Amino acid sequence: MTSRKALVLLLTVFSLYLVQAKTKRSKGSQPNVLVILSDDHGYRDVGYHGALFDTPVIDKLAAEGVKLENYYVQPICSPTRSVLMSGRYQIHTGLQHAVLDPMAPACLPTDEVTLAQKMKQAGYSTHMIGKWHLGFYEEACLPNNRGFDTYLGLLLGGGYQFSHSFPEPPYYDFHRDLAAAKDYNGTYSTYAFTNEAIDIINNQDEDTPFFMYLSYQAPHAPLEVPEKYKDPYRSIFNNEDRLTYAGMVSCMDEGIGNVTAALKAKGIYDNTVIFFSSDNGATVMEGGNNWPLRGFKLTMFEGGMRALGFVHSPLLSDKVKGTVSNELYHVSDWFPTFVEGIAGWNTDGTKPLDGFNQWESIRDGTNSSRTELLHNIDPLWTVPGGRNWVVKDSPFNVKINAALRQGDWKIITGDFGLFGWYAPPDTNITSIPGHRISKQVTWLFNIKEDPLEMNDLSDEHPDILFSLLGKLQEYYLDSVPVFYPDPQQDQADPCLNGNDCVWGPWTPI
Ligand SMILES: *[C@@H]1O[C@H](CO)[C@@H](O)[C@H](O)[C@H]1NC(C)=O
Ligand SMILES: *[C@@H]1O[C@H](CO)[C@@H](O)[C@H](O)[C@H]1NC(C)=O
Ligand SMILES: *[C@@H]1O[C@H](CO)[C@@H](O)[C@H](O)[C@H]1NC(C)=O
Ligand SMILES: *[C@@H]1O[C@H](CO)[C@@H](O)[C@H](O)[C@H]1NC(C)=O
Repeated sequence: MTSRKALVLLLTVFSLYLVQAKTKRSKGSQPNVLVILSDDHGYRDVGYHGALFDTPVIDKLAAEGVKLENYYVQPICSPTRSVLMSGRYQIHTGLQHAVLDPMAPACLPTDEVTLAQKMKQAGYSTHMIGKWHLGFYEEACLPNNRGFDTYLGLLLGGGYQFSHSFPEPPYYDFHRDLAAAKDYNGTYSTYAFTNEAIDIINNQDEDTPFFMYLSYQAPHAPLEVPEKYKDPYRSIFNNEDRLTYAGMVSCMDEGIGNVTAALKAKGIYDNTVIFFSSDNGATVMEGGNNWPLRGFKLTMFEGGMRALGFVHSPLLSDKVKGTVSNELYHVSDWFPTFVEGIAGWNTDGTKPLDGFNQWESIRDGTNSSRTELLHNIDPLWTVPGGRNWVVKDSPFNVKINAALRQGDWKIITGDFGLFGWYAPPDTNITSIPGHRISKQVTWLFNIKEDPLEMNDLSDEHPDILFSLLGKLQEYYLDSVPVFYPDPQQDQADPCLNGNDCVWGPWTPI
């Protein structure tokens, strides 16, 4: 062999070794992250919380992972999604009031660094599938411009599940990246999203980890599902809404099973962490249920915010697999948990985060870093005028709708007293109406001892009440002004603004 040939051979062997080393290194590190968010999915509405319909996939994934039973989201759609994407409380992004109106010139402020942007920096491919609901009036607000490489889904808060229309045809809201995807007209949303997730998994380059945000539209109203998913339950439910809702959850459950099977077939399941979460409590008027928790979507009671949640992964330590965690976690925690804990990256460049990196806590079953949780302060939602309700010497204006958790204690202020406990229509349980002691504007609960929020302890523990009111005031002073601009009908309406009835960016006045 000439020395030249030997050198070539040596170089070839060496470069093969390098390629192999690189493959090995990236395969072993940076797990894939799959976040599955369900929409208006009630606390009661999974098999493992007693639903009378089946969620075999969710039940099994949860049973083999860690069930998060002291885990919170925000009480409505856009807020939870804004906190997930920014890692910051609503009072710090200006989105503390209501959901984003499709006709208002508002979105998750574009100076917020998103979870997707940080995951991308960390070397991940990033994919958003499903419901966005974080605004779209400017191109800069769209998922592709907030850190996602690919996007398929709806930009608004909801729409018909087959026709992807809102509020009615010919209005259309289904997009692939920056363009309308009219070829999805007629495809059921859960099928569309599931198949997209599977395609991305199948085409994933094995050297690149992925971050996938799979944001199902199910089981949010309008209640629609292919008929076959209702068939198993026709004899159980004589309430049509509950029957359809059960079908929607079942179909989503099947979809999650298909996505999990795709991860296994691709050989990457072992290096993937699956987070499942609801986005807020169910709307009891639209098929969902949060029994036995108090209240529903929109309220500051547990039924509005205590979420369904679990983490499933072969990467969890053996001692936590199959356990229930009662550690306090919040949707703001996912930002640092994914970026620092799982991707091994940093959160440089973000504004101050309200979340904690909980990866070790979840993986190893150690204590949560969180002892306190500001649920929200919404100064635009106050006790209606004319009622002169006060708490003498209160450091916080108790007419404002707000809630805070510190350890096991929770305070709620504002006008909530009439929300009670709403029994599932498919059981013989009787609902319990809400009640209000005259002029009541504070509620104090020990959530550990009284998770159903039946015993207001405001009178028994004035010291704790006042300490929490002081804490609320501290947060209030630290909040940014609410940003909630008026809708602009003529400018935003896609049948009027030249967008061919497809919802998308428009020019505000
Ligand atoms: C979707 O399909 C229906 C039925 O074919 C049709 O009436 C409707 O106009 C279509 N929508 C869009 C946005 O093309
Ligand atoms: C799941 O996969 C099965 C088998 O391919 C298919 O029949 C079913 O429609 C899929 N379900 C969903 C929700 O995508
Ligand atoms: C974990 O929390 C429990 C009570 O919640 C406490 O008793 C224990 O000391 C904590 N452990 C550590 C290591 O902080
Ligand atoms: C409700 O009560 C009726 C009459 O007692 C009984 O037949 C039925 O099985 C009960 N349903 C449930 C879901 O418990």
